[in-house]
Amino acid sequence: MSDGGRGETPTIRAMRESDGGPVFEIYRQGIATGHATFEKDIPADWVTWFASRLPHGRLVAESAGRIVGWSALSPVSARAVYVGIGEVSVYVADGAHGLGVGRALLGALVEASEVAGMWTLQASIFPENQASVGLHERFGFRHMGTRRRIAWMSYGPMANQWRDTVILERRSVVAGIEPPHVEGSR
Ligand SMILES: CC(C)(COP(=O)(O)OP(=O)(O)OC[C@H]1O[C@@H](n2cnc3c(N)ncnc32)[C@H](O)[C@@H]1OP(=O)(O)O)[C@@H](O)C(=O)NCCC(=O)NCCS
Repeated sequence: MSDGGRGETPTIRAMRESDGGPVFEIYRQGIATGHATFEKDIPADWVTWFASRLPHGRLVAESAGRIVGWSALSPVSARAVYVGIGEVSVYVADGAHGLGVGRALLGALVEASEVAGMWTLQASIFPENQASVGLHERFGFRHMGTRRRIAWMSYGPMANQWRDTVILERRSVVAGIEPPHVEGSR
């Protein structure tokens, strides 16, 4: 399907355990920018990484039969009171930026998180990464503040610099309206 000349509209589907190769290759490309994450390299173990992400947030975007992006949600805490909060990751392959892939992924991720009852999504983004800031703003993420010189980066293209991060947060207006049914109170 066309999307007004900006490229083929990607298909969003659940990430499978067999998607490790392309997902980690796209992750590696994002890490190499120096503006996506503090991670130095892709994780050593795909199976452990896959299992540690919330099932409803694990999505991939396919275009012309190829994986061109992925999203994931990590729990922010093991405490019951924070069960409805997740940290967003979204990565699009080199050569597929600016074509609506991130928008399709984040839109599907927001929807899936709300269906799962999650009420808050958060993201920590380097301020230099204006594409990611713009993408999250587009889905109603608010700027909570900037963590100035929060970490020293000693590797990659941004090596030997103190880095800032901006914290963005999206509070659902459809999930988390009634008090959640969580075991325990902590
Ligand atoms: C950040 C990233 C996920 C954005 O995905 P994308 O597919 O390129 O973005 P899209 O084409 O879907 O654009 C969606 C929205 O993001 C914003 N956006 C995208 N590129 C932008 C840019 N260069 N500058 C400002 N805003 C931008 C716009 O609001 C856009 O909406 P619009 O098209 O209606 O104007 C992608 O660039 C990427 O994977 N980068 C490397 C990895 C990374 O940095 N991940 C984020 C870690 S926090």
